[in-house]
Amino acid sequence: MTGTVARTVTLPGGVEMPLVGLGTWQLTGRQAYEAIRHALAVGYRHIDTATMYRDVDQVGRALRDSGLRREDVFLTTKLLPEQAGREREALDASLTALDTDHVDLWLIHWPPARRVEATWQKFLAVRDEGLARSVGVSNFDLAEIDQLIRTTGEAPAVNQIRWAPALHDPQVLAGQRERGVVLEGYSPFKSTDLDDPVLREIADAHGVTPAQVVLRWHIEHGIVVIPKSGTPERIERNFDVFGFSLSPQEMARIDALGTG
Ligand SMILES: NC(=O)c1ccc[n+]([C@@H]2O[C@H](COP(=O)([O-])OP(=O)(O)OC[C@H]3O[C@@H](n4cnc5c(N)ncnc54)[C@H](OP(=O)(O)O)[C@@H]3O)[C@@H](O)[C@H]2O)c1
Repeated sequence: MTGTVARTVTLPGGVEMPLVGLGTWQLTGRQAYEAIRHALAVGYRHIDTATMYRDVDQVGRALRDSGLRREDVFLTTKLLPEQAGREREALDASLTALDTDHVDLWLIHWPPARRVEATWQKFLAVRDEGLARSVGVSNFDLAEIDQLIRTTGEAPAVNQIRWAPALHDPQVLAGQRERGVVLEGYSPFKSTDLDDPVLREIADAHGVTPAQVVLRWHIEHGIVVIPKSGTPERIERNFDVFGFSLSPQEMARIDALGTG
């Protein structure tokens, strides 16, 4: 029997975030445009970009040309730490490049050297203005998240951090959950040996690839995952993870590959 999992996770404020999105780092120009168009055509409804990736305009163009409604696609972008102090200007530039009046999630890409509380206050203000439906952080540890909560009383909706079976740390996952912070994992493949015998055996048992097992493992944990690919077949396969499920024993074997 095929188990079912939700395809979205609910962020504070009721925003639905799709559990699988397309990562776009290192995709630029025509390749970025083609990859995003293909992803949207095969069912992705979540695209992860950042000012740093220099592809924000391609995300906007691909979304416009896809014919999809803006409200049907979840868009994330990120503030460069050196833009701290110029948050509003940075977001305005992203919105112009994306050709939209709001993003679904705006993240502090990694902790700025200073003024993190001031930056977080600005993030909360643009959320309250409706320019970002939700706001969060990336590459923060639990102590840094606690600092934001202490100073503003508001936790980030999401913390986007490096995550994969080999990095699995139940304490970090539980710590984020306790604080109401959704874990979004990045670099699921770069941090994984796709020839690992455990992943291979489980993949063979389900007639899927080890990469698909890695993605399914994330979503069964309720962890958002954003695999990047510029290859049409991989873009398709990375989204084809809703037709099989992992048993509790298989989940435990994959968890055991981790460090936690
Ligand atoms: N917040 C942060 O600081 C941060 C840092 C890093 C990444 N990110 C975000 O997370 C996204 C994903 O992370 P990532 O790009 O670092 O790494 P990733 O998604 O783990 O790996 C991408 C690499 O895996 C290959 N690949 C894709 N699908 C595959 C499959 N089914 N089987 C085998 N190989 C496959 C890709 O090749 P092809 O493209 O040639 O198919 C590419 O070389 C980024 O694009 C970005 O949006 C955020």
